[in-house]
Amino acid sequence: TSNKMWGGRFAAGPAAIMEEINASIGFDKRMAAEDIAGSRAHAAMLAAQGIITQADAAEIDRGLAQVLDEIGKGRFTFSRALEDIHMNVEARLKEIIGEPAGRLHTARSRNDQVATDFRLWVRKTIDQVDAGLAALIRGLIAQAEAGADLVMPGFTHLQVAQPVTWGHHMMAYVEMFGRDRSRFADARARMNECPLGAAALAGTSFPIDRHATAAALGFDRPTANSLDSVADRDFALEFLSAASICAMHLSRFAEELVIWSSAQFRFARLSDRFSTGSSIMPQKRNPDAAELIRAKVGRIMGALVALTTVMKGLPLTYSKDMQEDKEPLFDAAEALILAIAAMEGMVRDLAPDPERLAAAAGSGFSTATDLADWLVRVLGMPFRDAHHVTGRIVALAEAQGVDLSGLELAAMQEVEPRITRAVFEVLTPAASTASRLSYGGTAPARVREQIARWKEMLG
Ligand code: ARG
Repeated sequence: TSNKMWGGRFAAGPAAIMEEINASIGFDKRMAAEDIAGSRAHAAMLAAQGIITQADAAEIDRGLAQVLDEIGKGRFTFSRALEDIHMNVEARLKEIIGEPAGRLHTARSRNDQVATDFRLWVRKTIDQVDAGLAALIRGLIAQAEAGADLVMPGFTHLQVAQPVTWGHHMMAYVEMFGRDRSRFADARARMNECPLGAAALAGTSFPIDRHATAAALGFDRPTANSLDSVADRDFALEFLSAASICAMHLSRFAEELVIWSSAQFRFARLSDRFSTGSSIMPQKRNPDAAELIRAKVGRIMGALVALTTVMKGLPLTYSKDMQEDKEPLFDAAEALILAIAAMEGMVRDLAPDPERLAAAAGSGFSTATDLADWLVRVLGMPFRDAHHVTGRIVALAEAQGVDLSGLELAAMQEVEPRITRAVFEVLTPAASTASRLSYGGTAPARVREQIARWKEMLG
């Protein structure tokens, strides 16, 4: 038998395999709440405009509330023969209220309907991601406050570069996740326009009020071009772009946690709650959660590439290709929200090892730049000359198997006779970090200012 919704011109129903490739109910049922909210706003508007009667609109609203309730309670039977969430809801509405259900689809198409549902779903998800990121940022700030004075090595090329502080390192991620929040907020502001009422593609001859439905659904305004309204998936791509960048940040931090928790580094300990053991090696504490967070960027960025590839080359307006927009985005959203929550948990439990960090901070001639700066400041040497002299002193220390602060003054004076004992004051990691008072620098005083600024912004 042909389809109840559009079967008028068909003599035969779809092949089984046609139904299988065509149906989206398996995944778009996740937008049930959004679909019903959109339909309720649409029906109320149709009645307010005199396009359907108030009595029919009231019946539709009552019926849709019941459908929502049934779905919420798991009492709804989804049907693949009905293709998607839109037709599943409408078919059930017909069962509940009868004839008025057929008036709901006046001045509307599944094309503007799905565009509206999907925007509402992405908007809601952005709000969830934002809340997760805010919590993660608070966790990082707590770590930064507790470890504002802890010295640790700062790296470039994963080679010890200069001493920094634990607090400064934590606050670097606060900056990243703060930018992520603002990217999601930008995407949200841009996508907050309502496509409902664009109908199939050209608009409608009914005297609808698109501003009313847009306002009822919390959109800032209706979309301005009906063709663009049903053909646009930029909002999904922008979400996935922001999600990819955010996942990349999570992945970098996860990688650092993996490195830091290794026996070779032992910079920090992951809690039991966020570690796993080995089935064969009794001593193991594996950072599985960090590794999985590190990996999530693969599927999230994969979703961005998948949807961009689906959209490229599609002629205006709607093509069924666009039904392939949802699964990757749902999967990416789930992965991102989970990764953010797991990272927050790990960060809150994370225990830095002050002794290990301090020892590593002083290794690798990490205060060589401080020595060169001293030669500039105290002896008035040009920096390039100071760099060269310091390089010779480092080579000397390396040959003797000691750190810079372990060198005899006499040894340094062989390279540069004007060096005095005062130089040793700048050669400790704590002196090095304390001296880096330039705006945004690693000095604990500066980091505390940034912590205060962030706390004020978070309220
Ligand atoms: N399930 C469809 C989708 O996800 C809804 C829109 C169907 N529109 C159509 N012209 N067949 O895109």
